[in-house]
Amino acid sequence: MIMTAESILTEIKNGVLVITINRPDKLNALNKQTIEELHETLVDAENQKAIRAIILTGAGTKSFVAGADILEFANYSIAEGRQLSSTGHFKIFNFIENYSKPVIAAVNGFALGGGLELAMACHMRVASDNAKMGLPEVSLGVIPGYGGTQRLAQLVGKGKAFEMIVTADMINAQDAYKWGLVNYVTTQEELLNKCFEITSKIATKSPTAVRTAIKVINAGYNSTLNGYEVEIEEFGKSFGTNDFKEGINAFIEKRKANFQGQGN
Ligand code: COA
Repeated sequence: MIMTAESILTEIKNGVLVITINRPDKLNALNKQTIEELHETLVDAENQKAIRAIILTGAGTKSFVAGADILEFANYSIAEGRQLSSTGHFKIFNFIENYSKPVIAAVNGFALGGGLELAMACHMRVASDNAKMGLPEVSLGVIPGYGGTQRLAQLVGKGKAFEMIVTADMINAQDAYKWGLVNYVTTQEELLNKCFEITSKIATKSPTAVRTAIKVINAGYNSTLNGYEVEIEEFGKSFGTNDFKEGINAFIEKRKANFQGQGN
């Protein structure tokens, strides 16, 4: 356990931190407190070497996260709306996208609005077959404000993103798979096992190289950077890391690598 929080449950299993957003009576809608607690949990886990990956899911069987908490922002001004979006980007959505350890969303039900945006900020998504995904913000007279307009287009292509955002339609898990929005679809019972199957592979790899791979993949989606140039630089830097020495020695000695992940 990392900390005691009201809206977040945490459990460490096989080197993986499972974070469960725990407001099931509100379908795990993201209020300010949840955002703060999620941020603090992620900051804390970043420095724990034993944690190699994160799985993010929602409490109960019905919902991953049904969006930002609508009641909380119902009376916001223009300035408050802007602040809500920018704080969210900073503390959660960009933060997760650029996190140094892989984050997998286990989408166990509704992933709507900020909920789908949360899943899309994660590095991978696995959905259970009851999941429903969509960005219904235009039904409320707003637009997606936690990166949805950008990340949905990156994942499913611009045409499908336009359709989903302007119609506010939800899609089911199979369609989400078909469009590349989720990596796998499982039964509800198998959802976490599938995520653990992925994290068990990550856990044997170089944490330093995994962290760098996340950084470089993201660089290609940052209009101020040239992803290829960042790749060249980071590829070069890999040769100076202890993990590289260990990986190469292990190969030559025909043994499994024991990566320590101390960076360079
Ligand atoms: N913010 C705040 N509360 C929310 C919420 C949200 N995004 N989504 C659901 N809830 C609350 C409901 O108000 C309800 O609370 P109550 O029991 O105190 O009235 C509770 O969660 C259960 O939701 P309910 O609507 O009764 O469940 P349902 O099965 O009939 O419908 C949904 C499920 C997901 C279709 C429906 O809750 C919904 O449309 N939610 C809003 C989705 C959305 O627009 N998200 C984007 C926000 S920007």
